Amino acid sequence: MPQTVRGVIARSKQSPVELVDIVVPDPGPGEAVVRVQACGVCHTDLHYREGGINDDFPFLLGHEAAGIVESVGEGVAEVQPGDFVILNWRAVCGQCRACRRGRPQYCFATHNATQKMTLTDGTELSPALGIGAFADKTLVAAGQCTKVDPAAPATVAGLLGCGVMAGIGAAINTGAVGRGDSIAVIGCGGVGAAAVAGARLAGAAKIIAIDLDDRKLATAVDLGATHTINSTGQDTDGVVDAIRAVTDGFGADIVVDAVGRPETYKQAFYGRDLAGTVVLVGVPTPELTLELPLIDVFGRGGSLKSSWYGDCLPSRDFPMLIDIYLQGRLPLDTFVSETISIDEVEAAFEKMHHGQVLRSVVEL
Ligand SMILES: NC(=O)c1ccc[n+]([C@@H]2O[C@H](COP(=O)([O-])OP(=O)(O)OC[C@H]3O[C@@H](n4cnc5c(N)ncnc54)[C@H](O)[C@@H]3O)[C@@H](O)[C@H]2O)c1
Ligand SMILES: [Zn+2]
Ligand SMILES: [Zn+2]
Repeated sequence: MPQTVRGVIARSKQSPVELVDIVVPDPGPGEAVVRVQACGVCHTDLHYREGGINDDFPFLLGHEAAGIVESVGEGVAEVQPGDFVILNWRAVCGQCRACRRGRPQYCFATHNATQKMTLTDGTELSPALGIGAFADKTLVAAGQCTKVDPAAPATVAGLLGCGVMAGIGAAINTGAVGRGDSIAVIGCGGVGAAAVAGARLAGAAKIIAIDLDDRKLATAVDLGATHTINSTGQDTDGVVDAIRAVTDGFGADIVVDAVGRPETYKQAFYGRDLAGTVVLVGVPTPELTLELPLIDVFGRGGSLKSSWYGDCLPSRDFPMLIDIYLQGRLPLDTFVSETISIDEVEAAFEKMHHGQVLRSVVEL
């Protein structure tokens, strides 16, 4: 029997989110219904509701979640009812050209549920990143459920489902930061702060946190930043000079742009050492363009990378990071600025906008 539960939707561009009844079908073949326990508020949810991702309104928001598998459809072997899982947006297909070449982290045909969740009038919902977890229950592809140690609280575990994984992975997977490297992270919200934590885990020697907000920089220091730069009012040269000042005049080996604007990208591009790496993990909005002298792209060498979901493989990375958290080596609790109820998502966007939180986490 399809179930009617509460869910947070964005109906149109710029209008505030609404808490409404949604209909969740029984899981079909390869699908699972998950009782959501916690779901973090990610900047990408705000991008969705502002129409910055696409125009497939209405969206069912929320995608950084953990919960308990309630039921599974035919042929599902990887999880069973009662399993504690983190939801992921990279259920790899195993068949596409990337998967076949042994690079499943680039899978081009990731799985989502086949059936649609709907409004009570039958209108189909577009779940954010194929998840939609600001809801009591959600329908996903079974491969989107990654089992982890249930000793971890759901509020913390869920964060690995998007922003924290994206940040840690941008540093350690895409940027390949290692022992003794220097790294700068531009924008230390949930994603950037996680890149800082990932860099510490990987043994980086210098970790430079850059933000416009001193509160974010203070948290970054808690998570392992060795230097901070408040870049308010500074142009590209100002930020680049500040990075060079703490890297023997050369720039950082890796610079992560966790904002995703032309000005922050330029800071990253020029703030890295010759032959260094830029990792873009912040998501630009469609109207933004970048202009760079091509001779500088050539002459500075190195690599310019983008990081989708921190190049993670959920089955490999989620259980490992939860284990490291449980050993006390990855302070994921620091990311949970507040827990809120499901009717406070709009207020959480507002707080995110004003830099008051790293993550607001909806508890269900
Ligand atoms: N690539 C991925 O897979 C992936 C996954 C999740 C989120 N994201 C994206 O990452 C970005 C960050 O997400 P978040 O949840 O951390 O957002 P957030 O709002 O929590 O953090 C953004 C931070 O950037 C700072 N900032 C803004 N403009 C700045 C500037 N010009 N210079 C320096 N700092 C600046 C803000 O003060 C804030 O601390 C978003 O664009 C989001 O969509 C990408
Ligand atoms: Zn694939
Ligand atoms: Zn996200």
